[in-house]
Amino acid sequence: MPYWDSLYTAGHTSEPSPFAVHIADQLPADASILDLGCGNGRDSCHFAATGHFTVGLDESAAAIESAERLRDMIAVPETTCTFEVADVTDPDVIERGLQQLPAHLPRVIYGRFLLHSLEPRQARSLMMGLGSKLEASDTVYLEFRTDEDSELPKVYNHPRHFVSLAHFHEMARDARLHVNLMACGRGLAPFRDEDPMVARVKVAYSPMVSIGQGLKAVAVTSSTA
Ligand SMILES: C[S@@+](CC[C@H](N)C(=O)[O-])C[C@H]1O[C@@H](n2cnc3c(N)ncnc32)[C@H](O)[C@@H]1O
Repeated sequence: MPYWDSLYTAGHTSEPSPFAVHIADQLPADASILDLGCGNGRDSCHFAATGHFTVGLDESAAAIESAERLRDMIAVPETTCTFEVADVTDPDVIERGLQQLPAHLPRVIYGRFLLHSLEPRQARSLMMGLGSKLEASDTVYLEFRTDEDSELPKVYNHPRHFVSLAHFHEMARDARLHVNLMACGRGLAPFRDEDPMVARVKVAYSPMVSIGQGLKAVAVTSSTA
């Protein structure tokens, strides 16, 4: 059984991640969210439970089954929170996902701990897919493990493709994505005994993007976010 199917079949925390809680606090009241690599839907369900229209996509069928169970358990209506098995490195999947979001609501594309779960060529394909399908008014929030996390202790050991900040900026530039905000450090994604080194980024599509334009980098050593 593939790794993610076994993890979600065995069961995983249904608590929203600190990143989702942080983002949900900042969103306009009626945003619509496309959650890429949504896993068991813990973050999607948090967004939906806090009033946002949400679509979660994941390539693991076990993850999606578990996301649907969580949604039903917390009584979020299926009309505002749907899940689908899909490979988000396919640009057509991104396009179809975006089309499912109501046109009148501000669109947010969210991906937590997805980027480092992808092979480098898939990560590039995802970024290029975003760059080719987004509109300037869309906002993307990503959280991922940086290369500085590679040697730190882990709760789960499985293949990861840690992302260097330089490589992320290169992919963003090539996809014409503008990095508006980046925070890096530990203290952002604690999980049991683990305190990984992660980056959080806020990105927007910009046909006129140039390297470093408007970039605000914030080093974080600890946070309650
Ligand atoms: C580390 S988990 C993160 C799950 C969730 N975002 C969270 O924070 O709880 C990575 C997820 O990405 C999914 N994933 C990996 N490659 C994918 C792909 N090509 N398309 C869609 N989902 C993918 C996995 O199935 C897994 O659920």
